[in-house]
Amino acid sequence: AIRSLHARQVLDSRGRPTVEVDVVLEDGSLGRASVPSGASTGAAEAHELRDREPARYAGFGVRRAVANVDGEIAGALRGLDACDQPGLDRRLVELDGTPQLERLGANAILGVSLAACRAAAASLRQPLYRRIAALSGNDAISMPMPMVNILSGGLHAGRGMDVQDFLAIPASARSIAESIEMVASVRSAASDAMARRGLPTLLADEGGLSPGLPTGHEALELMVESIARAGLAPGRDVTIAIDVAATSLKGPAPGRYRLAREGRDASSAEMIEMVADWVRGFPVVSIEDALDEEDWPGWQTLTERLGDAVQLVGDDLFTTNPARVARGIAEGVANGVLIKLNQNGTLSGTLGVIRRAREAGYAPVVSARSGETEDPFIADLAVGTGAGQIKIGSVRCGERLAKYNQLLRIEEESGAPFSGTSALAGRR
Ligand code: PGA
Repeated sequence: AIRSLHARQVLDSRGRPTVEVDVVLEDGSLGRASVPSGASTGAAEAHELRDREPARYAGFGVRRAVANVDGEIAGALRGLDACDQPGLDRRLVELDGTPQLERLGANAILGVSLAACRAAAASLRQPLYRRIAALSGNDAISMPMPMVNILSGGLHAGRGMDVQDFLAIPASARSIAESIEMVASVRSAASDAMARRGLPTLLADEGGLSPGLPTGHEALELMVESIARAGLAPGRDVTIAIDVAATSLKGPAPGRYRLAREGRDASSAEMIEMVADWVRGFPVVSIEDALDEEDWPGWQTLTERLGDAVQLVGDDLFTTNPARVARGIAEGVANGVLIKLNQNGTLSGTLGVIRRAREAGYAPVVSARSGETEDPFIADLAVGTGAGQIKIGSVRCGERLAKYNQLLRIEEESGAPFSGTSALAGRR
């Protein structure tokens, strides 16, 4: 049973406050977890409660969320069984009482949900990924295929490029260890190639590079060049994923997209054409948020056009929200779902979305946020659910490496098989 709950304000990778929670059980087991934060957020995400006090951390403080954990939530959860994760999560959602968890804050609620899971795992003397496997009814844990940020633009790099992320997928890797080695060499080769051209190699929000190239086509050329420079074969050893983050490209009128670096606007149909050109010209196998979160008809057309060939992942589109994922499945929209714990608000809710996606043949991709802490929870989440894919950011910065290094440890100790490219939706 839960003896005590306590929260504190700590900092994330952007130097902004976030919530960390300690849950202590009657047997002395401790679970600690902290909560990430996005920059390119979807409107339907669970609500992040911020203090909005301009004089302190420019309004980004989370002392109200912390107080909600220490007060109301601690009062309601004390004495409850930490091993009943679904019951705890249901209680948290009921206690909040709002659809997007804006009263107590999804940052308060998720921190408690994750810390309780860790405390239960400690009490049961189970590794966290085993505990998550049990909670998700999964008896086949597996190591996820990573998609790794190499080049950044959009809201992750001062809008230096219109597209938010270009990522490398180590297609021919046979383990997590080999995956990380391959993408680390691509990342270094990209840095060398940029330095040679006189481009700055400073880090973007997720530890990637921001070359500020004017078009997606040029960024893809740099990706292919970097893969080849690393001594790997583009398309065979390493393929490419793209996160357009098109919700951040809202144009001057509804249904229009603003490609500021290219100096033009595009319709939904023109965006689809641009993406189809990339797929034709480059070894692109996965595309996330190619269209706006409310452009459902555009998404349908995109999926009819490219869904058999490549993985089409909904992030802002689905926001790890069961109703939005159900709508996507019903309308034949996308074939992959980005999975972010803090978009949903609880562990059980997130596990439910992964299960629903799976049942419909949609590929789940467990993802970090651009604002992260050193908490490696998502590494265990990806392994325990056997999700098959993970997106953490680049192989730089402590908050990213905490997750990659945790995957290395889990691979060594669990012997779980590596998913490889079979986890990706689409045939390419
Ligand atoms: P975000 O980005 O956390 O800023 O939403 C994460 C991602 O790349 O999907």
